[in-house]
Amino acid sequence: MNILGVESSCDETGVALVRCADTAGVPELRAHALHSQIDMHQAYGGVVPELASRDHIRRVLPLTRMVLAEAGVPLDEIDVVAFTQGPGLAGALLVGAGVACALGAALGKPVMGVHHLEGHLLSPFLSKDPPEFPFVALLVSGGHTQLMRVDDVGEYELLGETIDDAAGEAFDKSAKLMGLGYPGGPALARLAEFGDAATFDLPRPLLHSGNLDFSFAGLKTAVRTQLMKMGTNVCEQDKANLAASTQEAIAEVLARKSVAALKETGLKRLVVAGGVGANSRLREMLNAECMRRQVRVHYPELSLCTDNGAMIALAAAMRLQRGIAKANKCYTFNVRPRWPLHAA
Ligand code: KG4
Ligand code: ZN
Repeated sequence: MNILGVESSCDETGVALVRCADTAGVPELRAHALHSQIDMHQAYGGVVPELASRDHIRRVLPLTRMVLAEAGVPLDEIDVVAFTQGPGLAGALLVGAGVACALGAALGKPVMGVHHLEGHLLSPFLSKDPPEFPFVALLVSGGHTQLMRVDDVGEYELLGETIDDAAGEAFDKSAKLMGLGYPGGPALARLAEFGDAATFDLPRPLLHSGNLDFSFAGLKTAVRTQLMKMGTNVCEQDKANLAASTQEAIAEVLARKSVAALKETGLKRLVVAGGVGANSRLREMLNAECMRRQVRVHYPELSLCTDNGAMIALAAAMRLQRGIAKANKCYTFNVRPRWPLHAA
């Protein structure tokens, strides 16, 4: 099967072609292309939903042409068109869904909506070291922070999640307070390389809560308080120290709770997915914790950590192979801006 995947849930337009056998085997990524809207949104300090939708419209067809040319697959050899159905920005999702369904209708091929977080969660299956089920998944994106027990595709048990801000939001909001622009996560991580994480003793919210939930809203407030204490003339070194301390607090909570989830489930495999999974300090901590506990840890390829079309085509492929979802020729589409993964 040739599966075209279209991702448009937020500020990245992603298109990819995945090839897979009908019932088994790891799907193979044939080509993928991405357009990031970072430059466009930078001037506004965050994603402007209307601009995001309009840009998806401009990008999606040229990216599709590029992917098909690179994969050497003509339009009529596409078997299924998969698209991100949610969660995400409604207008942005509608662009991907509309284009995918129009393409499906024009080609007479079935279409299929995919859960964005399922795409993230399964994305390590496209890496050189794919995981095996079951595993604990740490899903850390801009809007979600969740620990799940994953027994197979579609078998997700929520173990814990954030009660307020997501880890990505904590990075983004702290970065904004420090004047680092958008997207804050990578900018804060870059600055943190020059700082000393032991400088500021920032809170580790819910670290000892006895459950697997997270809370990051207080951390952002602590960063704001620290900045106010430092006054207007904050020097670059202080800023780098604050960035390193913030990153350390977020990474430590994520790593310690992941270990707690592994202990609770008795599982020996951890999968880390979502944009924050690209953070090298987080990876360092998780690698050390997992090595100590003889736990295997899997990450997506760095290029597939943030949003992309490959993970959408992959999730469709894995669902179809297991017969737990069907692509169909019904081209009236809807999107699901809010859609919990365990309900997918
Ligand atoms: O998964 P993703 O690309 O989009 C969503 O589905 O939300 O995640 C985006 C989030 C943003 O909050 C961004 O700041 C964060 O991932 N991020 C990082 C890094 N790269 C991306 N956070 C920390 N360190 C990074 N290197
Ligand atoms: Zn995402």
